[in-house]
Amino acid sequence: MSGHKTDGVDAFLKEVKKHVDVAGSLPKSHGKVFWVQRSDIKVDVFEEWLSYSTPSQNADGYFTGAGMFSAANVDRGSSLLLEHLGSDLKGMVADLGAGWGLLTSRLLAQNNAVDQADLFEADFSSIEAAKLNVTDERARFYWEDVVILTGFERRYDVVVSNPPFHQTRKTEPELGQSFIRKAAQLLKPAGRLLMVANRQLPYERVLDHHFRFFENLGEAHGYKIFMARNPRPVKR
Ligand SMILES: C[S@@+](CC[C@H](N)C(=O)[O-])C[C@H]1O[C@@H](n2cnc3c(N)ncnc32)[C@H](O)[C@@H]1O
Repeated sequence: MSGHKTDGVDAFLKEVKKHVDVAGSLPKSHGKVFWVQRSDIKVDVFEEWLSYSTPSQNADGYFTGAGMFSAANVDRGSSLLLEHLGSDLKGMVADLGAGWGLLTSRLLAQNNAVDQADLFEADFSSIEAAKLNVTDERARFYWEDVVILTGFERRYDVVVSNPPFHQTRKTEPELGQSFIRKAAQLLKPAGRLLMVANRQLPYERVLDHHFRFFENLGEAHGYKIFMARNPRPVKR
């Protein structure tokens, strides 16, 4: 098991020690890895912890689990992006950082001319939950890290994204900026990106760098919506 100190790995280790003898631990670069002997594990408590991430239906009727983005109900930023998706999307669509599948589920329901929608998500539990929420047969699911996604030949007419902006507690705009760069690489020359971001996040320069045209479609509740089209050719 491993984790970052700012994510509370020390508290987690302390909790684990209550239930099982920890065989060893190693601190490195603000993180810590520790390990236990399988034979020492009291299965009941770990199975209970595991069950927290087993998806169950939230207040909005979507399958989500502990630790997933906006597990309790639909995020306000995602809602705002949904208002701007419309019903004229067609062809091949990609959803980068798809979470438990909200955007693709709604998008497929209101866009009959979409041929296929590919969901990319790094968190395994979330992409598994997405399979329960997006039952449309046009959906494909990829458990992938978007930042380092390589060797993917398919090109898209539309990319939608509510990109992550932190992995630890501090804001990391580079993460969303990498998603914008990846969207530009994955789009066809006439393709477009529709994304939502917290209003204070600095994405405009990166959008300008990677797309021939972009505009702010609207702002509300501290979020802004961007549409960017015609990606500039990028070195692969
Ligand atoms: C802001 S949430 C949006 C989730 C969903 N699209 C929505 O609107 O409800 C961002 C998602 O990106 C995922 N994510 C974070 N880093 C990622 C990466 N490097 N590659 C793919 N997905 C990532 C997170 O697990 C999270 O589900």
